[in-house]
Amino acid sequence: MNLFLFGCLCFILACSPHDPNKETVSMTTIELPEPQRSGEISVEESLQQRRSVREYASTPLSLEEIGQLAWSAQGITDPARSFRTAPSAGATFPMELFFLISDAGDFTEGVYRYRNENHSLEQVIEGDLRHDLYRAALQQDAITNAPVVLVITGVLSRIEPRYRDRAMRYMYMEAGHVAQNVYLQSVPLDIGTVVIGAFSDDGVSDVLQLDDGEYPLYIMPIGKLR
Ligand SMILES: Cc1cc2nc3c(=O)[nH]c(=O)nc-3n(C[C@H](O)[C@H](O)[C@H](O)COP(=O)(O)O)c2cc1C
Repeated sequence: MNLFLFGCLCFILACSPHDPNKETVSMTTIELPEPQRSGEISVEESLQQRRSVREYASTPLSLEEIGQLAWSAQGITDPARSFRTAPSAGATFPMELFFLISDAGDFTEGVYRYRNENHSLEQVIEGDLRHDLYRAALQQDAITNAPVVLVITGVLSRIEPRYRDRAMRYMYMEAGHVAQNVYLQSVPLDIGTVVIGAFSDDGVSDVLQLDDGEYPLYIMPIGKLR
């Protein structure tokens, strides 16, 4: 083989998607347990008891609890049409969920994206990024107090072709539905949470390594009640 061909081969191998360095950062997928679809506490009781909570027990959340909260936020309830627990303008489904999990027994700490099509969590970043998120959100202690932090994001390109200059407004509205579902679901689980809207968009996008056109909409620290 001449030197030129050998050089080309080395270049192709170095750029290959099977680059062993990339394999080592390949992330875990965690299947979540089947969510509960009935419970002991009524919607009315949840509405009555819901409160914003900013301090939490240090107890980690279980796989079941994180799965139940993810399902309440964006779980698929009509698989034929992919319709979800929260409404979506024109069924365009721009919402995404990221869980920053620092210390939950069943998890390696990292950032996980909820895959509602198979009710699983896919790790997308390694390490505990709560402190970076705290700095991007006016140093609000609830973020570092919580063992789990949910960030709700919206992908504008899914909704903008249909709703044009109303698209961003609709994404904010959808985030409100998602967040309220999480608040209401947290009551029967003895979990506390709070919606945080005061943060730097660029700062949070950097922490989560969001693509252009994906916007952070809400941060929700989550932990067991003390
Ligand atoms: C759009 C929005 C943004 C909010 N941002 C923050 C925030 O950045 N930090 C915080 O601690 N609470 C935040 N909250 C929570 C409110 O402070 C809280 O809902 C209010 O004090 C009423 O308390 P309750 O939720 O227990 O009824 C926000 C609430 C909303 C609706």
